[in-house]
Amino acid sequence: MCGIVGVVGNNNAVDILMQGLEKLEYRGYDSAGIFVNNAKGNKNLIKSVGRIAKLREKIGMEVAGTAGIGHTRWATHGQPSEENSHPHASADGEFVLVHNGVIENYLEIKAEYLSDYPFKSETDTEVAVALIAKFANEGLSIIEAFKKALHIIEGSYAFALMDENDSDVIYVAKNKSPLLIGLGDGYNMVCSDAMAMIRETNEFMEIHDKELVVLTKGNVEITDYDGNKVERDSYIAELDLSDIGKGTYPFYMLKEIDEQPSVMRKLITKYVNEDGSMNVDPEIVKAVQDADRIYIIAAGTSYNAGYASKRTLEALTDTPVELGVASEWGYDMPLLSEKPFFIYLSQSGETADSRQVLVKTNERKIPSLTVTNVPGSTLSREATYTMLLHAGPEIAVASTKAYTGQIAALTFLAKAVGEANNKSEAFDFDLVKELSIAAQSIEATLSEKELIEEKVNEVIADSRNAFYIGRAEDYYVAMEASLKLKEVSYIQCEGFAAGELKHGTIALIEEGTPVIALISNNPKVSAHTRGNIMEVAARGANVLTVVEESMAKEDDDIIVTEVHPYLAPIAMVIPTQLIAYYASIARGLDVDKPRNLAKAVTVE
Ligand code: F6R
Repeated sequence: MCGIVGVVGNNNAVDILMQGLEKLEYRGYDSAGIFVNNAKGNKNLIKSVGRIAKLREKIGMEVAGTAGIGHTRWATHGQPSEENSHPHASADGEFVLVHNGVIENYLEIKAEYLSDYPFKSETDTEVAVALIAKFANEGLSIIEAFKKALHIIEGSYAFALMDENDSDVIYVAKNKSPLLIGLGDGYNMVCSDAMAMIRETNEFMEIHDKELVVLTKGNVEITDYDGNKVERDSYIAELDLSDIGKGTYPFYMLKEIDEQPSVMRKLITKYVNEDGSMNVDPEIVKAVQDADRIYIIAAGTSYNAGYASKRTLEALTDTPVELGVASEWGYDMPLLSEKPFFIYLSQSGETADSRQVLVKTNERKIPSLTVTNVPGSTLSREATYTMLLHAGPEIAVASTKAYTGQIAALTFLAKAVGEANNKSEAFDFDLVKELSIAAQSIEATLSEKELIEEKVNEVIADSRNAFYIGRAEDYYVAMEASLKLKEVSYIQCEGFAAGELKHGTIALIEEGTPVIALISNNPKVSAHTRGNIMEVAARGANVLTVVEESMAKEDDDIIVTEVHPYLAPIAMVIPTQLIAYYASIARGLDVDKPRNLAKAVTVE
């Protein structure tokens, strides 16, 4: 959500900034801008509403510099407009700032310090740069002015600040929002995601909350806000340039859907030892064994993945699992059990809503595990333990491979805990074999893309609304399936417990309403779901069935090859991801960048 880039000490600063912004566009695409500066005193502040391509057009070939900062915005304070775009300059033009996050006390700051200031935008960011400029104009050096402002500003932020009279330095600070330093050969960079600068370097340095960095081409000086020096080692990011390209795919979402069989196989290599035993950190296993209840906290697709993992976790660990919507639990934590264990599910590891809960559970010294795709992410750093998804960068805004990766990772955890508890069911569950079968099932579904596209065009693409229905695990998959369809096709869609529909919502079914029914191999409920299909069909619904092989009947539409019941959500979600993808294509939309959304939601 919003992306920041910066570079100092490189003659190709504009190119580095623009390439970085293009890689970060998935974090926000309402507007973008750059500021570049060079030793000859040329300065350029260029902004544009809309996609990065528009900014590129505006910049043209003339602009050049050796240092600069850039930003791609997902609007929070104020609509997408050029005035509200970053970078924001102080009224005298001297200081230029880019910012991710939300400054919570910006109105108070405005009232207390800046009542006469000629603001041009509605943003909280302009308040921050105005405050820095005010302190600098009162005689403080830029670094002292920045520090003083940082002591006043409350909320989440990643800042990169430049002084237009000094093209050799970028000042950087962060709190709660992600930001990294990239170390180049003879120049340095700053970015909110390693992906932005991986073309330039694979050596990065973390910045922790409430640290200030003075970045020059040859030096990275980190201090806390009181000026105490911080020593920090760099690390090599395990990221490949090819991981972040689209290859021959028209959209990242399709590439990432297709990558799921290899993600499943990769997880086997990561979480299974050569002798077949589980390779899950024994400390994590012990922490789960010690708990009397597992709480899974997440948002959106990750939340749905938590539900899809609940049955397996409960069955193999013998521990009740409760789900919490991160944005609710941060402020309204229910009564917890005596020995809770918290699992934070987050593809990005940066979701502010989840972090808000983690801060609270850390205060209460509750042990926690972050299951994430991004090593070194905030949630990973701040939880007691981490398990990685090893899914490779997920760039499409709509999450796909992280969902299946999360379910698989939690299944490894469940089995490892079950075995540590000497539970025979856990030993009998041959996860390597079953996950390999699941990978094959995904491949089989992926080979049915044409059929799925056809069905989407027939039944869904032109509809205003739709329903997914299912029971038990299929209901959880229905929740995810409907989220996916909504976000990329803008078709209003609800995921419903099939039996619940008749208690009110069936009133919405009319001639032609698409109802997609999910039926996996669960004989206890499948006949009931079939009954619910009859009910909606009798009222004119246009029904599409997605059915696991052993439950299939002659006129079912999409058949999913059989997998172990614990892994059914992994196999059953694949057709629904493709349904969402093809619905978006049919409606001519930008699949990877749905309106109003951004990847990594770093505001609460
Ligand atoms: C939907 C989607 C979002 C995220 C949610 C949580 O496709 O991607 O719903 O799942 O914003 O993000 P993470 O998993 O990064 O915490």
